[in-house]
Amino acid sequence: MSPVTQSFRGKELKPSESLKIDAFSVRIADLEGVELDRLHALSLSVGWPHRAEDWHFLRETGQGLVALDEIGRVLGSAMWFGHGDSFATVGMVITSPRLQTLGAAQWLMKRVFDNLPGHDLRLNATRAARRLYLSLDFQPEKTVYQCQGIARVPTAGSPTEAGSDVRTLDAGDIPAAVALDAAGFGVRRTALIERLFAHSNGYGLFKNDKLNAFALCRPFGRGHVIGPVVAESDADAVAIVRPHVADHSGSFLRVDTHMHNGEFAAFLSHAGMPVFDTVLTMSLGKRLADFYEGRSAGPKTYALASQTLG
Ligand SMILES: CC(C)(COP(=O)(O)OP(=O)(O)OC[C@H]1O[C@@H](n2cnc3c(N)ncnc32)[C@H](O)[C@@H]1OP(=O)(O)O)[C@@H](O)C(=O)NCCC(=O)NCCS
Repeated sequence: MSPVTQSFRGKELKPSESLKIDAFSVRIADLEGVELDRLHALSLSVGWPHRAEDWHFLRETGQGLVALDEIGRVLGSAMWFGHGDSFATVGMVITSPRLQTLGAAQWLMKRVFDNLPGHDLRLNATRAARRLYLSLDFQPEKTVYQCQGIARVPTAGSPTEAGSDVRTLDAGDIPAAVALDAAGFGVRRTALIERLFAHSNGYGLFKNDKLNAFALCRPFGRGHVIGPVVAESDADAVAIVRPHVADHSGSFLRVDTHMHNGEFAAFLSHAGMPVFDTVLTMSLGKRLADFYEGRSAGPKTYALASQTLG
């Protein structure tokens, strides 16, 4: 393409085909006061599916920092979600493509550490971010399978056990769900589960009137996400995810799970949600196994609340 020519006082000016633009100077700020549209633009710039509403939910749920340029454009972000005094998950670590590989994410993460002294941290790392987290001493734990697609209800499936009953959840079920989630996740997340209940539909599996397994589902990204899902067995997990699949049959549904084989993983694939991508759970401080010490059985997390929340 030929460069555009312009004239000035009758003289033809031919602009140079290259232009040197100065490096950006970046300052850190609290994510709290930043317009949602600007945060949304940042996640769109790296191809993430979050809507402005998803950012709003995350901002209500956790805390975060942004890197801003001189005129307030958001060039980077990092968030954390604290549970108790000494544990947090980290997520929404993004740097704008034009700023990547220059150390901005490293710099943002160190500011996150300053806000979380002595905390054990857990996060789910994309492939692009693994080297960053390894250089910050995070340890790899296990793979998360991001399963998604247009939902359909599989025809085959085991019927719910006699004596157990699947029904929708309401606010009265929150304490039992918090306890199950804590057993699966390894850390009690009362405020998060309460907030998720307010934004989700939930199904629970009850045995003798006691909540034994549950699955929440809420709007997210391109459609809906199912999570968290906590159950003691694959069959129970399937029993509480199946009604969500039926509710969203024909539309976009997503599940992030550590399970890569067995009845639950097979169910997701038959329900129109094959593995789309993977990320890696990593931890800093206490390892994943430390949270389950001395426990051989019990409820397991079958689906994360989301990659960001864990
Ligand atoms: C992942 C991401 C946040 C990294 O941001 P960044 O600003 O480029 O990271 P930094 O420049 O601080 O680099 C940190 C480390 O990763 C390395 N690195 C960064 N980009 C790299 C690349 N493309 N190839 C190889 N190494 C790379 C850097 O060399 C540095 O390693 P070092 O500490 O050993 O020197 C950024 O690429 C991004 O936003 N990606 C899309 C969203 C995403 O995946 N976020 C992660 C969520 S878990």
